Amino acid sequence: MTTTTQTRPEQDLPTTPFHKLGGHPVMQAIVNRFYDLMDSDPAYAELRAMHAPDLAPMRASLASFLAAWAGGPRDWFEQNQGKCMMSVHKNFTISRDVAGQWADAMRRAIADVAPADAQLATAMGGVLEDMALGMARS
Ligand code: HEM
Repeated sequence: MTTTTQTRPEQDLPTTPFHKLGGHPVMQAIVNRFYDLMDSDPAYAELRAMHAPDLAPMRASLASFLAAWAGGPRDWFEQNQGKCMMSVHKNFTISRDVAGQWADAMRRAIADVAPADAQLATAMGGVLEDMALGMARS
């Protein structure tokens, strides 16, 4: 049996941040750069240690989440019904320092990929930083 994800009209509009930033290829490029940085820069060692050795599932999941979050296809929410980003992280003890590592690596990844809409890309980094810091509990 083949299942198809139902699309909403706004996903087809080129006005969403998802489309303006370049769609899936750009989301995936940002996420790949993010995990490459996390995996290689000692500044993110504490953050890296919280993740499983194999980052491949995270590369797929975070790219899918960012696409949906930015107004693109809703696959991540369809596949993770009832979950939100805060509930996904509720069992992790996230310090402000580690949240800062996440935000810093993401901001660098966005800058390195350099989506054409630079202003929107920078704004996305700022909102994601707020989200990451909002997960910090100590
Ligand atoms: C604040 C710092 C953060 C820390 C320390 C953190 C840590 C983690 C860890 C340890 C996992 C599980 C990884 C694994 O099993 O290998 C995870 C999963 C995930 N995180 Fe984060 N995270 C943070 C912020 C964020 C933010 C801001 C987002 C979204 C913009 C995000 C998106 C995700 C996604 C999509 C998953 C996978 C969920 C799934 O597929 O079940 N994380 N995170």
